[in-house]
Amino acid sequence: MGKRIPLPEEPIAGIDDVVQYDRDAKHYIFPEYKYFVRKVLRKGIKGGRVLDLGTGPGLLAIELAKARGCHFDITAVDISENMVRMAVKNARQAGVEDKIKFLVATAAALPFPDNSFDLVMSYASLHHWFEPVTAFNEVERVAKDTGKVIIRDNKRMYQNPFYKSIIWIISQFTSRRHRQNWSKAISASYTIPEAKEIVKKSHLRECRVNSDFVFVIDLCIESQ
Ligand SMILES: C[S@@+](CC[C@H](N)C(=O)[O-])C[C@H]1O[C@@H](n2cnc3c(N)ncnc32)[C@H](O)[C@@H]1O
Repeated sequence: MGKRIPLPEEPIAGIDDVVQYDRDAKHYIFPEYKYFVRKVLRKGIKGGRVLDLGTGPGLLAIELAKARGCHFDITAVDISENMVRMAVKNARQAGVEDKIKFLVATAAALPFPDNSFDLVMSYASLHHWFEPVTAFNEVERVAKDTGKVIIRDNKRMYQNPFYKSIIWIISQFTSRRHRQNWSKAISASYTIPEAKEIVKKSHLRECRVNSDFVFVIDLCIESQ
């Protein structure tokens, strides 16, 4: 099995990288934000306090804030100040700045009391976290007893030639920069057994770990 290649350091913190990521995410990642929001709504979650971890330019949080007939009070955090600035700008442009609070914080030490959130969600950030077990413990701590957790990310599946060709084909329709970042992100991501092992070591309880997006190229950790 191909070994995981962790990201050397936070690679999307410089302003040029943030601008580029924001542009690429608006072009290429949008179907996944929509899918994520549909998943939340299908669970019957239509309101309450939501935490988005590793929000980046805030596009998932914004998509959730725009969901019709819903009333979410969203807090979104990212370790990168430049990402948070971009997220604030995007929320203002989308007209949802009053529905989302953006903060600079790390998933490994969340500045919130225990039992604060009805939903803790995250997209494409887990593979960056240097201390995933600590971060999962924080997720468990800040989620209410009745709260839900949905953490989605890439899945490391380059060891499988079939998946490798699918990613290669899809990535031909994206920019060179996005292609390179995606490839590094996949190599830094976890396999399903590895993610299950991290969950097991953490305080997160009763979570299912599987793949359910198109071509099952994703990893989803989801409370029952
Ligand atoms: C690939 S981006 C995904 C951004 C966003 N969730 C999206 O879907 O567009 C990963 C984000 O995770 C953030 N990040 C990395 N490590 C983090 C940590 N320990 N705590 C919080 N955010 C982190 C990065 O700064 C970056 O904005």
